[in-house]
Amino acid sequence: MKFTTITLLFACVLNLPCAMAQSPVVTPGNIETATIGQQEVSLKTTNAYGSVSVYSPSIIRVRLDKKVLGADFSYAVVGKAQAVKVQISQTDNEIDISTDSLKAVIQKKPFSVTFYTIDGQIINQDEPGLTTSWVNDAVTTYKKMQEDEHFVGLGEKTGNLDRKGNAYTNWNSDVYGYSTMADPLYSTIPFYAGIHHGLNYGIFMDNTYQSDFNFGASNNRFSSFGAHGGEMNYYFIYHKKMADIIASYTWLTGRMPLPPKWALGYQQNRYSYYPEAEVMRIAQTLREKRIPADGITLDIHYMDRYQLFTWNKSRFPEPVKMTDALNKMNLKLTVIVDPGIKVEKGAPAYESGLKQDVYIKYPDGTPYTGQVWPGWCNFTDFTSDKGRAWWRNQVDFFAKSGVSGIWNDMNEISTWGQKMPDNVLFDYDGHPTTHLQAHNVYGLEMVRSSYEGALEHFKERPFILSRSGYAGLQRYSAIWTGDNRAEEDHMLLGVRLMNSLGLSGVSFTGMDIGGFTGNPTTSLYTRWIELGAFIPYYRNHTALNSRAAEPWAFGEDVLDIARNYISLRYQLMPYLYSSFYESTQNGLPIMRSLAINYTFDPKVMDATYQNQYEFGNGFMVAPFESTAAFGKVYFPEGNWYDLYTGAQQKGAQEVTIPLTVSKLPVYVKGGSIIPMQSLTQSTAELPTDTLAVHVYKGSKANHFVYYEDDGKSFGYQKGDFYKRTISFDPDKKTITFDKAEGNFKTNFKYIRLMLHGFEQSTSVKAGNRNLKLQDSSIAFLGAAANTDPQGSINRPDSSPVKTVTISNAPNNIQINY
Ligand code: NOJ
Repeated sequence: MKFTTITLLFACVLNLPCAMAQSPVVTPGNIETATIGQQEVSLKTTNAYGSVSVYSPSIIRVRLDKKVLGADFSYAVVGKAQAVKVQISQTDNEIDISTDSLKAVIQKKPFSVTFYTIDGQIINQDEPGLTTSWVNDAVTTYKKMQEDEHFVGLGEKTGNLDRKGNAYTNWNSDVYGYSTMADPLYSTIPFYAGIHHGLNYGIFMDNTYQSDFNFGASNNRFSSFGAHGGEMNYYFIYHKKMADIIASYTWLTGRMPLPPKWALGYQQNRYSYYPEAEVMRIAQTLREKRIPADGITLDIHYMDRYQLFTWNKSRFPEPVKMTDALNKMNLKLTVIVDPGIKVEKGAPAYESGLKQDVYIKYPDGTPYTGQVWPGWCNFTDFTSDKGRAWWRNQVDFFAKSGVSGIWNDMNEISTWGQKMPDNVLFDYDGHPTTHLQAHNVYGLEMVRSSYEGALEHFKERPFILSRSGYAGLQRYSAIWTGDNRAEEDHMLLGVRLMNSLGLSGVSFTGMDIGGFTGNPTTSLYTRWIELGAFIPYYRNHTALNSRAAEPWAFGEDVLDIARNYISLRYQLMPYLYSSFYESTQNGLPIMRSLAINYTFDPKVMDATYQNQYEFGNGFMVAPFESTAAFGKVYFPEGNWYDLYTGAQQKGAQEVTIPLTVSKLPVYVKGGSIIPMQSLTQSTAELPTDTLAVHVYKGSKANHFVYYEDDGKSFGYQKGDFYKRTISFDPDKKTITFDKAEGNFKTNFKYIRLMLHGFEQSTSVKAGNRNLKLQDSSIAFLGAAANTDPQGSINRPDSSPVKTVTISNAPNNIQINY
């Protein structure tokens, strides 16, 4: 006490900022020493240690701590700092760090950072006077709120697309039947993008403690991000385009591996299908009713008293026989796993985990015990190599049962009471820590273990699904949005959650179609299952005590509509699989918020249009409540086509459209190239040998990378794929198919070119050869269009579809029109 008073006195006498000396808020203060390296500046400030380093030409990393910076360790970051051409210079007042595309200026007194474009525009700056500070162990960085700044991203967060005016917390939570404003939900992705003055940037704060993001909530001065412990450690990303920011972010935290094709098909879930006879009944009904499907999922009742790595033998006496029978019907089985291992003497998994010492413990060395479905459980330490190795071995149990997918649930960790103690210890890969730091990565490391275990033991590409996760989860797993409600606004919230996950690096996303808790109305169910056709992971799931939600559970009309949309999904498989492939290459999501391609269009941030999204590079979906009779759609710049009628719509317009429950509003962007195939009942079934390539006339050049492989093996990594770029160029009046790459033999012998929006007089030539165009009488997606009760499937006469079938030669094909 005395010491503090004396120190304070000295501070004031020496004319140091005495208010600061006594403040419970500690800022870095002035830079005392700066050590300049090739592409990093190491700093000692009055109260902190720091480093500002160039990670790539577009990424600059900032680290700050009150103590000497610790070991550089991350569960999220896999991109290694690149050797980059960097210029670093300093004066008495500042240090400048420049790459070819970005410049950081570090002010010395006091320490603060500003990021500029090469031509000197401010992209982002520390809020003067606040910069970064600590309150006890919690650290926060404050950024000046730029005029008319908007914010998107942060993963699975409720609320509006534009996060301005709101604040969010990251602490992975089990939120059964969450409200549409609840926060936090199940996963943590501390990455967001800011947009202002025609500029956009991304910030990823890699800190796994509970974290808080504030985008101008309860203040008119700053946006901020911070965590309850650990160091300030953020990556600043700048590109001109949002898509490139996502590419850089996913370069940093990794991209989705190519999933098995069956995981893109329709998945029938429920809590729970059992016994075996019921599973087979569902399988047979899907086939009998001609509902295309690729998977059935088993929830917790397949286990013996909910014990992991067991089968309930009275319900499932012969699991291998069952999975064989399902596989013969082209249906794959996914099963649920929870992290909790029931404490039961003599139970093989429990005993083996105990013997191998894999459970998380209290500081006194006793395993932490929490209650979940099976009763009191211990939990594997997935943050230790030993724990992950043990789990990987257990995954063999599923391989031996013929299982193809692993659904990781309850991995926040969820335990009854939802208050896991802070003092539980984790290895954190050799950096021992408490629950406080490990909580948010528990789910990530669990799916990592499941994924790596499946790679070891499964013969084919596995499908992994998770409820929880942290930045980088896309490297191992798909994610779904947990226990939603069978309510209209929940369906729309789900769209926003997935769009935000997509902005935050996670492409493979889903939600419980029809709602998990409660019972949907017939119209809500109908709209939701239509929407599912335009969601990356098409999962129909519902809770234990809710009514049946299979496509046939709501009557014949709904069954027809569901069949039409699920069938449409299967016809779109070449487009979808290629879009997934694209995402493995550049991190662009399948569900794209309009903020990705129309970032600076103010209408995109308007809450009226915030649920609209692009599905891949060709479609725009406008989801509305099933009860609405009319809806307002915003058509961004360009020209757009109604998917069902082909009617054209000029862009940069707001249009009120009539709605019918049997039809999901979907539009095609002018210039799009959409490959489709004949209808199949599963992705394992071969379509006909003709690939329909739909080209929609537009005024801008566009291209599409068509991708095909066997859909299941890892052969593609050794060149067993078939890939070619298809381009549309309205200036040159050409449609070209580049030479095909890869060793895989395509299934398609013919290409049926289908031209939409081209003039009646259009004629086409391949080389010097005139091709005979025919008018197509069927509407694009006739099946789905048939769902219109008015039966208006005919296109306006002005825009018939012109078609011609050509041989799918592997060499360059050029069509002139
Ligand atoms: C919670 C999950 O979110 C839900 O989808 C699942 O059905 C139940 N756990 C039972 O396993």
